[in-house]
Amino acid sequence: MGVTSRFLQNIKKHQESKKTPKFNGVLEDYLKLLEKNKLIPVLAHKRLYNQILTYGTTTLDEAHSRCHKIFDGEEVKIYNYFSKHFFGIERPLEKIMRFLHSAAMKGEESRQVLLLLGPVGAGKSALVEHIKGALESSEPMYVLENCPINEEPLHLIPRSLRDKFYETYTIKIEGDLCPVCRHRLLHEFDGDYTQFPITQTSFSSRGRKGVGVVPPMDPNTQDTSLLIGSEDISKLDLYPEDDPRVLSLNGAFNVGNRGIVEFVEVFKNEIEFLHTMITATQEKNVPSPGKQAMIYFDGVILAHCNEAEWNKFKSEHTNEAILDRIVRVNVPYCLEYEQEVKIYEKLISRSDFNCHLAPHTLEMAAMFAVLSRLKASNKVDPLTKMKIYNGEEILEKGNIKKVDIKDLREEVEDEGMTGISTRFVMKAIDAALADSAKNMITPISIRDALIKQVKEQIVNPDERQYCLEFLQKTLHEEYLSILEKEITKAFVSAYEEQAESLFNNYLDHAEAYVNSTKVKDKVTNEEMEPDERFLQSIEEQIGIKGSAKNNFRADISSYMFAKLRRGELIDWRSYGPLREAIETKLVASVKDISRIITKSKSRDVKQQKKFNAMAQTLIDNYDYNEDSAEEVIKFAANNLWRDS
Ligand SMILES: Nc1ncnc2c1ncn2[C@@H]1O[C@H](COP(=O)(O)OP(=O)(O)O)[C@@H](O)[C@H]1O
Ligand SMILES: [Mg+2]
Repeated sequence: MGVTSRFLQNIKKHQESKKTPKFNGVLEDYLKLLEKNKLIPVLAHKRLYNQILTYGTTTLDEAHSRCHKIFDGEEVKIYNYFSKHFFGIERPLEKIMRFLHSAAMKGEESRQVLLLLGPVGAGKSALVEHIKGALESSEPMYVLENCPINEEPLHLIPRSLRDKFYETYTIKIEGDLCPVCRHRLLHEFDGDYTQFPITQTSFSSRGRKGVGVVPPMDPNTQDTSLLIGSEDISKLDLYPEDDPRVLSLNGAFNVGNRGIVEFVEVFKNEIEFLHTMITATQEKNVPSPGKQAMIYFDGVILAHCNEAEWNKFKSEHTNEAILDRIVRVNVPYCLEYEQEVKIYEKLISRSDFNCHLAPHTLEMAAMFAVLSRLKASNKVDPLTKMKIYNGEEILEKGNIKKVDIKDLREEVEDEGMTGISTRFVMKAIDAALADSAKNMITPISIRDALIKQVKEQIVNPDERQYCLEFLQKTLHEEYLSILEKEITKAFVSAYEEQAESLFNNYLDHAEAYVNSTKVKDKVTNEEMEPDERFLQSIEEQIGIKGSAKNNFRADISSYMFAKLRRGELIDWRSYGPLREAIETKLVASVKDISRIITKSKSRDVKQQKKFNAMAQTLIDNYDYNEDSAEEVIKFAANNLWRDS
């Protein structure tokens, strides 16, 4: 089968799937539907909330290490609708959903504007797009035929019958007919509302159905018709002035009725412009163009803006009435670098980007971004703070450093509202790629690109200074230490086995030392004293000297014993400080050979063989390719192993 005929089959299938007959009926048919499903006429907030919930939720509880380490053991609700697209902003998402939930229950929130406040590139627009997408995937809504604002068919039911209606269906009717439908009812159906045609329509952003968008407006061209529609001048000749048929109800509040109205960069607009927004929330009515009565509005109002605009707006006390109508949710930058990496991966996967990314490339860029976003702490240095925010254990002199992430968070306010944006990093990634002769990006080239970009684009001298320091010093060293371990691992054949065997030996001897017993040789069964020299050779790697060894050995023994008693498996990675010691020892054990072999210009046959094997291991086991392996080895040779 040819490509075209295969595609034509797809078209056919698609058309058939669209063929599910659209509802066409009158009030009686509609009421019969309501008998079976009372959720059909839900109001906008509830529809949106329910729709997002249909994707399900998961709870990050004690069983997840991120919950434990990042959220300080407090439960976090994860909304599946967002979780594949948004990373590291679980808390703001929870707040957004809490708002929708209360609004869905008709709490005060249903009469408030939801404002997303955050720095540029924190994903506000993307979030709003995604939320609008939820409506597009929802079931079609039932509407009065040809109603410009897609209104709820129950508006046909006269006020005097609504109590009775509630008794019968336990559905509360809000709102009255719009002027256009009212006119049609009177003139076309002679007031007989049981004859008014009812149909269905889907939500669509592009089709402006149930989704209205208000872009920021230049004060000179600002025109409320953008919000509430206008009178169609060409029709003014045809109909009398107060005839609703002259109305073009195509403003954002008209098309967004029953769904969402989005205000992009909301406070760039003049205040007068925002009054309609307030009326819409407070009274659930918007003005009509011309001389008509107010028009009922039911929709979620989502606005977003950055902090500078917000502060300016907030500082004017004439704006208090509006402020009172706003629920603000901060959407800060992501502060977990491993989650930040996922953002870059998402953005990269959406582009035509097709090149080799050496290991740790995005990690380095993400570390830089997060470092630039953190506020200084009095308790720890920036790199340590970054790692704690990422849920990592911090080791210090053989102990796991006890720094509570909560304390660090409480030290500062509004963290994540400044710093390097995702876009800044994406631009650096593009630049690094454009400069690459070999169609690849490495931690080295991304760092160069970031440095260049910081120099070119960051004008604030302080910010520029600390950004450069992070790139040229902090992350330079961090990368070298990551790279050193990786190259070591590639040098040490059977790294895992060696580490495991050091671990087992250490544990045997440390335990015997703690309990004043002897170690049994596994082969000869001979009993011997714990090997003090061996124990110390491990401990000295992480600076444990003198009497500190007693505590260290006792801690490890009881830690491992407790783990075993709980039926958990232990291995050389189980206890942070010991893992660190073992790794350092292995690194040291090949330090000389690493230095000689990577640095030397002319290698003898044996050395060349070892070098090749190491490079090959990097490629086979650590996702390098030939070019990137060569580049990082060269970098290591020039920057590592200087001291010897
Ligand atoms: N926490 C995040 N998770 C996933 N994607 C994000 C996140 N933050 C930013 N992005 C992505 O970065 C890009 C820029 O975000 P955007 O929505 O334009 O930001 P804003 O409107 O806040 O300036 C978008 O493609 C968005 O998907
Ligand atoms: Mg935006």
